[in-house]
Amino acid sequence: MAPRRIILDCDPGVDDALAMLLAFAAPEAVKVEAITTVIGNVMLPQTTANALRILDLAGRTEIPVHAGCPRPIMAPIERKKSVHGGDGLGDIGLPAPTGRAEAEHAVDAIIRLVRENPGEITLCPIGPMTNVAMALIKAPDIAPLIPEIVFMGGAAFRPGNSTPAAEFNFMIDPHAAQVMLTAGVTLTMFGLDVTAQALITPDWMADVEAAGGPITRAAIAMLRAYGHGDPCLHDPCVIAHFIDPSLFQGVDAWVEVETTSPLARGQSIAAVAERHRAGRAPNAHVITGLDTARLFALLREKLLSLD
Ligand code: BDR
Ligand code: CA
Repeated sequence: MAPRRIILDCDPGVDDALAMLLAFAAPEAVKVEAITTVIGNVMLPQTTANALRILDLAGRTEIPVHAGCPRPIMAPIERKKSVHGGDGLGDIGLPAPTGRAEAEHAVDAIIRLVRENPGEITLCPIGPMTNVAMALIKAPDIAPLIPEIVFMGGAAFRPGNSTPAAEFNFMIDPHAAQVMLTAGVTLTMFGLDVTAQALITPDWMADVEAAGGPITRAAIAMLRAYGHGDPCLHDPCVIAHFIDPSLFQGVDAWVEVETTSPLARGQSIAAVAERHRAGRAPNAHVITGLDTARLFALLREKLLSLD
């Protein structure tokens, strides 16, 4: 099968960086057509610089990076403290980027690439969904041209990580998540239901570090600095699914996001039973199950192949 052509829409972010590296290590499964950046784990200039720094690390500077939205749809925010460190990549001293972002805005790049390649470009938002929502709002004609949106966000059947109700990406821009969920595009959701099972262990890190070269060692250094209280490889699950879908199982559901309640802002509500869906067909395949041991074996093999 030809590799899946994707736009990786991200907010690096240590686990975003790991998702990028995993994609680069699996050209048989994934072709990254562009990287688009958004505010999220850190502010937009930093997420953009971080995407470029990871391209330098991996030697993949031919992949275009487009900076996108510097704030969520409804109101500006400040991002100061993060489980990803001050610079968003664990403060491990990765050099400043050698390259620059393209002049074209991420939203326009998404619209252009989808229109130029109808039915070909899968969108993979692994940060707040602001760029994807803005593209769908600016150019509604692209919705039927997108074969699938595979995203990291939400928590269908469990508590959140940002608040008791909400997962981080949905919490930062719940309105954007809602636009994406109701756009009529085929959706596959990697929420905390599954990604919280991708828990990194010190033994796994030590083993991979000992076997690896400079790229692997940088990846493990970032991981060691990441995620106090939340050391999960959320975003790489999206990419792992293209490499080996048999690692995951899920259920179909109608999923929406709470946008108004101050207590439950960003909460994902997933209706599985017919009586809860009230006549609506499922809008998403919600991934819930993961073979964790096989995922970490895959990550090990692929990371080591980069060095
Ligand atoms: C999500 O939030 C971010 O911190 C991670 O990069 C991931 O996309 C997990 O809730
Ligand atoms: Ca992310």
